[in-house]
Amino acid sequence: KRGLQVAIDGPASAGKSTVAKIVAQRFHYIYCDTGAMYRAITWKVLQEGVALDDEAAVKQLLDQITIRFEPGTPVQKVFVDDTEVTLAIRQPDVTNAVSQISAQLAVREELTERQRQIAEAGGIVMDGRDIGSTVLPHAEVKIFLVASVEERAQRRLKDNAAKGIQTPLATLRHEIEERDRKDSTRKISPLTQAADAIRLDTTSMSIQEVADRIAEIIQEKE
Ligand code: C5P
Repeated sequence: KRGLQVAIDGPASAGKSTVAKIVAQRFHYIYCDTGAMYRAITWKVLQEGVALDDEAAVKQLLDQITIRFEPGTPVQKVFVDDTEVTLAIRQPDVTNAVSQISAQLAVREELTERQRQIAEAGGIVMDGRDIGSTVLPHAEVKIFLVASVEERAQRRLKDNAAKGIQTPLATLRHEIEERDRKDSTRKISPLTQAADAIRLDTTSMSIQEVADRIAEIIQEKE
């Protein structure tokens, strides 16, 4: 049996990737972090010194690179061609530039195409901003995860500490709000809840509770 398509969308730091990974493992599904793909092209743009607003050059660069995932603990490894960028794509320079790259039509078209190919056979949990609305409009399960800004900033602070990144809480709060604003107001495929998505407010839920709830929803459909 090939398995369902599960779309998990929501704003920055709502816990999407953490629960998506748990759920994927439980059902033996593939996990695909689409944010990592936008981060990977952003990393490459910064690396090559291409101007963030040079859309033609950004697209050309994207056409030249492969973005691959490999299993790894505690996090999946991400590669741009043969370079591992797992940690580099989580650094503040990439985080703060990614919304400007992900707003570009050519970038979205190309990555949407790659994401559809990855999800084609089903048995996949894909997380991002526009999976339920645009990438996989026919996904059998669509979840929209939200949490208060304060809670998300606290979670990011903890995540960062584990990675050795030290950014003050107030800065994180500001960065999260800014990224949400940019991702929600862009013209193409903005962050938005699909009409048929199930909204889960995770502010006072544990990771395990959220994963269990999503697993229940999948079981009902499987
Ligand atoms: O999920 P993550 O925070 O890693 O995503 C990084 C950025 O990639 C988002 O802020 C957004 O600009 C972009 N993104 C997107 N569409 C997706 C996934 C991520 O535009 N499906």
